[in-house]
Amino acid sequence: MTNSPLPPYQPGNVQGIILRGYTHPHSCHMLFTFTDRPGAAGFIRALLPYVQSAVAWSDKPERMLNIGLTFNGILTFEPGFKNQFPSEFKDGPWSGDSQLSLQDTGASDPSTWWNGQDKQAIHCIVHVYGMTDDALDSLVTVVSQSAATNSVSEILPFGPESDRLQQYAPLKNFIHFGYRDSIDNPGLGWPVDPAGPAGQMKSDPGDANNFLIGYPEAGSQFHPGPLFGPAGEFAKDGCYNAFRVLHQDVGVFEQFLTDTAPVVVAAIGGSEDHAREWLAAKLVGRWRNGSPLVLSPDKPCSTTSGATDFLYEPDDRDGFKCPFSAHSRVANPRDQAVYISDAPVPRLIRRGVPYGAPPAPPKYEGECGLVGLFLCGALAGQFEMLYSWMNTNGFSAKFAPGLNTQDALLANRGAAGDPSFTIAIAKDKKIKIPSLPQFIVTRGTAYCLLPSMKTLRRVAGLSE
Ligand code: HEM
Repeated sequence: MTNSPLPPYQPGNVQGIILRGYTHPHSCHMLFTFTDRPGAAGFIRALLPYVQSAVAWSDKPERMLNIGLTFNGILTFEPGFKNQFPSEFKDGPWSGDSQLSLQDTGASDPSTWWNGQDKQAIHCIVHVYGMTDDALDSLVTVVSQSAATNSVSEILPFGPESDRLQQYAPLKNFIHFGYRDSIDNPGLGWPVDPAGPAGQMKSDPGDANNFLIGYPEAGSQFHPGPLFGPAGEFAKDGCYNAFRVLHQDVGVFEQFLTDTAPVVVAAIGGSEDHAREWLAAKLVGRWRNGSPLVLSPDKPCSTTSGATDFLYEPDDRDGFKCPFSAHSRVANPRDQAVYISDAPVPRLIRRGVPYGAPPAPPKYEGECGLVGLFLCGALAGQFEMLYSWMNTNGFSAKFAPGLNTQDALLANRGAAGDPSFTIAIAKDKKIKIPSLPQFIVTRGTAYCLLPSMKTLRRVAGLSE
């Protein structure tokens, strides 16, 4: 990382969720549709006192929120911006170009998103956080009443009769399938310019200039935009959020571990219980407690459970510790060489939380998964690029040419890639699983801009 201590942005103008991971145990993610501009402005105005900026807090707020606007939401305020934003944001995640990467087919098809409700009607997403259930509920009530007063309608995520998208608090730092999550995120420093002239900045893909829009002189590697003119001013100090609700099929996942455990025992010995955990670790690249396989190849370890400082090339060039298509190795291959056309490795800020109670065996019924908030400065260059890698792993010479093995956990098995999973154990020893099941189903996706505080005041009709 090449960071300067003096970034040019003001933390007070940036929504807090972009620059810091919240650890509030309770959150609710509310979707809205606007009726008209005055109502939309009144709604945002009513929420402004609760919007958390990135200014450091001395006492953690008991309750707070952040606001995202979709392209259709922005048009409610600024109809003149029709052609000013990048096409993937304007056209939406269901559009043909975005779907080339996301490949939501079958049960994930965009026609099924939000239980068949109109995807284009989502104009605004409000992310509400609370230290306690009561604190959360009280702010959710404020948001819901402000919506009603301003003719803003709430869209419930799984249909008009469904519950709101609420974090499942008892899992704490863990997500469904039993893994610890939110361990590794970009450093968000600011790039240095050792040579002096702009245009020669030394930037790391994890630097904040790859997430915050509006700093062309800081040389982002992924082309965030818009940068200039009125839309550039509107977007400055904002960040995109690929908001994706992903159902996790716990029954299919657990059954896969059980069914495949004997194959693992035959290859490496030990008990079937150990084999299930070993297999779960190989799918993700970390043991369920968080230990990376590169640092703790044989068993989980409490001292490495939050480790982020490791590389693949010196320590695991052949993938004997962490398979090449393990989810976290695909989602961040670190120093592993990628093809020039795909370089640099895209990074994402992850702010997701689990929803739904863990379904109980033997039937594993019930809706649960991940409320995914994937933040980036360029939806196509970062979020969609990574998704295309997950669906069709052709991004590095580590994968056999033409084979395009998929991400072991995430990929849509109906997509173009190869759903097999190879676990290399030693030079002449490997396990090959011919076809992985579908573990994840997309329930809905919305691309939002998390605008600056100044832009929120502007759309609320207040002087900036
Ligand atoms: C329900 C769906 C998902 C599950 C269960 C899941 C699970 C995990 C787990 C267990 C980790 C390792 C813990 C950590 O490093 O924080 C991880 C890391 C990661 N995931 Fe996911 N994930 C999901 C969806 C996604 C999606 C859709 C993306 C990207 C579009 C993504 C990108 C990443 C990234 C970038 C990392 C960090 C890798 C690293 O820096 O080492 N994940 N995920």
